[in-house]
Amino acid sequence: MLAGDLSRRFHPDLVEIRPRDPWPEDYEEMVDWATRWRNSDQLLPLKWTLDLADRAFIFLGFPIWGGSLPAPMRSFLATANLAGKPVLPFITHGGFGAGDAMAEVRRLMPNAAFAEPLILQCDQERASLNALRGWLSDVAAAIPR
Ligand SMILES: Cc1cc2nc3c(=O)[nH]c(=O)nc-3n(C[C@H](O)[C@H](O)[C@H](O)COP(=O)(O)O)c2cc1C
Repeated sequence: MLAGDLSRRFHPDLVEIRPRDPWPEDYEEMVDWATRWRNSDQLLPLKWTLDLADRAFIFLGFPIWGGSLPAPMRSFLATANLAGKPVLPFITHGGFGAGDAMAEVRRLMPNAAFAEPLILQCDQERASLNALRGWLSDVAAAIPR
């Protein structure tokens, strides 16, 4: 949604930073997958490498996973060369804040020129799932067995 709005205003090339192998579709399995990669010393292989040399500036958008950068973003930043380029980060989280994400971004890209990041709370799947489960146990009597 945020990237979509930026896209309408600035008409940039929109590129999703995707893993080479897709993550599991099931939410719980996906969280386990994300945790495994967060705790791994290895960089998650990405689907494509980007040549950003001729870009005047970069909007860098990502969600917070486990209080930090998502593994695909960590791989991207560890391999991208954005020296001297203006980078405008916009970050979403599910209610627990941006954690150490900006410190990590700056550590991985020491030579980029960062603008003040936008940090926003967005939908939280975990809270939605917990609310759904609570509601299901409240209305269980209405579900025929
Ligand atoms: C694997 C995973 C880990 C997450 N960890 C956190 C977290 O540590 N703190 C937090 O506030 N939100 C966390 N979230 C919620 C996401 O940050 C939130 O859903 C996201 O910012 C919404 O943006 P999106 O729709 O672009 O994914 C996590 C979500 C996922 C899928």
